[in-house]
Amino acid sequence: MTGLHPTYPLRTERLDLRAHRQDDLDDLLAFHSNPDIVRYVPWPVRDREQTRVALEAKLTQDRLTEEGQWLVLAIELRETGTVIGEVLLKWASEASRQGEIGYALHADYHGKGYASEAAREILRLGFEELGLHRIVAVLDDRNTASAQLLERLGMRREAHLLQALWFKDEWSNELVYALLKDEWLSGRSGSAASDQG
Ligand SMILES: CC(C)(COP(=O)(O)OP(=O)(O)OC[C@H]1O[C@@H](n2cnc3c(N)ncnc32)[C@H](O)[C@@H]1OP(=O)(O)O)[C@@H](O)C(=O)NCCC(=O)NCCS
Repeated sequence: MTGLHPTYPLRTERLDLRAHRQDDLDDLLAFHSNPDIVRYVPWPVRDREQTRVALEAKLTQDRLTEEGQWLVLAIELRETGTVIGEVLLKWASEASRQGEIGYALHADYHGKGYASEAAREILRLGFEELGLHRIVAVLDDRNTASAQLLERLGMRREAHLLQALWFKDEWSNELVYALLKDEWLSGRSGSAASDQG
């Protein structure tokens, strides 16, 4: 495996997934500064300067060259050119071909299937282009919107870990969801059909 060097944008029906740019700052700030959005993600509520620093790091996270790295892509709504969120893929292990996904969207764009659309493309990238065997998602068990998204993607709930993490000043229970490449291949026609329904 030689890592992942996508050609951008990655186009889905309504979205362009692409590397972040300096001029994404205002769009990023709009959701990084919202306490409801960052409640269950591993970042604090950010002001403009903190978002600028976070964006600096994201500018370099547009490829995977070694295990342990995260690919961090902007989700751009093609119709308006607005960055409505971000979607992530971690190359967790090269030898065992393991990955992890993550995502966050501006609240105004929830409930429209955009997160599913972006995450589905990231699963495709992980399985087909990076050659992963298994992709997981790890979340707080109170994050029902995220759990529903993972079930919509066809991911399996594998574990429920009680007080596995000291997170944002309290013990957090973790859910682990996973998908094997074979499961993804056999579920693809079903997910395409439910997209249209
Ligand atoms: C987790 C998160 C990304 C989920 O976003 P979402 O918009 O609910 O997820 P989806 O894109 O799958 O949208 C599904 C909803 O859109 C609706 N929808 C509308 N049009 C649709 C379409 N064309 N296609 C698919 N679904 C559509 C679905 O019916 C569903 O609605 P429902 O939730 O009322 O059942 C969002 O809640 C978020 O950003 N949370 C904060 C960050 C966070 O916690 N990240 C995860 C950390 S583990």
